[in-house]
Amino acid sequence: MSMKRISLMLLATAAAFSVSSAKAAGDLNVICSADVVICEQLQGDFEAAHDIKVNMVRLSSGESYAKIRAESRNPKTDIWWGGTGDPHLQAASEGLTEEYKSAKIDELHDWAKMQAESSGYRTVGIYAGALGWGYNTDIFKEKGLAEPLCWADLLKPELKGEIQVANPNSSGTAYTALASLVQIMGEDKAFAYLKDLNSNVSQYTKSGSAPVKAAARGETGLGIVFMHDAISQAASGFPVKPIAPCEGTGYEIGSMSIVKGARNMDNAKVWYDWALTPEVQSRMKDAKSFQLPSNKAAAVPPEAPKFEDIKLIDYDFATYGNPDTRKGLLERWDREIGAIAN
Ligand code: G6P
Repeated sequence: MSMKRISLMLLATAAAFSVSSAKAAGDLNVICSADVVICEQLQGDFEAAHDIKVNMVRLSSGESYAKIRAESRNPKTDIWWGGTGDPHLQAASEGLTEEYKSAKIDELHDWAKMQAESSGYRTVGIYAGALGWGYNTDIFKEKGLAEPLCWADLLKPELKGEIQVANPNSSGTAYTALASLVQIMGEDKAFAYLKDLNSNVSQYTKSGSAPVKAAARGETGLGIVFMHDAISQAASGFPVKPIAPCEGTGYEIGSMSIVKGARNMDNAKVWYDWALTPEVQSRMKDAKSFQLPSNKAAAVPPEAPKFEDIKLIDYDFATYGNPDTRKGLLERWDREIGAIAN
């Protein structure tokens, strides 16, 4: 073979490689289950750092799980970033997500690593947040209402119509609330509590943080949400005060999973490794996303609720992220609470 022919062949091979690597740069389909502001920040930052176009949808945690499950034969999503860990664990145990052990895992806090280990590396912790509520201090003052410090206070008749919380079928926040109350009170007492609470609830929203956004705008007095979502409204200048319930409360391990059979598998892994870096996690506060980051080297925002000051339960992720438990609790919620919801 002549030298000229060999170099032509090499050129052709190089061209083929560059076409295929340009194609590999391609796309990434992301479901983001945290607040839309952090979702958009991540999309912009990732696109700026990589030659990959991100197609993103924001869906609540339960909705995301349902979408990934419905599409399991023909996955349309590559990566699921954020949202509470329970539905991520459920997806993992149903084999809907891909096993991936990122080299970054050793940089993470134990709670984030445990989320990975317990799922056989089908999900991983990216942030943590404690459940509580935020109330509108102006509304409470105007109406002469006492500061609501305990779960028990939320049952007071004077709070009728003043409370919003999400629906636990769509929202991971509301499922965390349900599972936390079950762990604090026992299942029957928790459902009796939720029935009583229903008299004060004006709306069960789809998204977990919507209730405190409504409280911030004065549309309701109080929203049961993750404390950092209440802090985010306060940081935006609204008269919202975050509360950690006196009886104790649960928390989330916000998680990330790669969808099994993802069409853009390589890109999904690029996102996954990137999202675990301290640089990316330290920037979450710029979107007023005040969770605790999972990378030990990431800066903890000063606004983040101090876990050591909160009476946290030893939330049993293995049990409450288990498909049977989650399905069972949601079915009971539909029968006993959804059916009487206003
Ligand atoms: C908010 C919180 C996140 C949480 C998410 C769950 O965005 O900031 O920490 O993971 O809610 O959303 P969902 O709509 O499923 O309750």
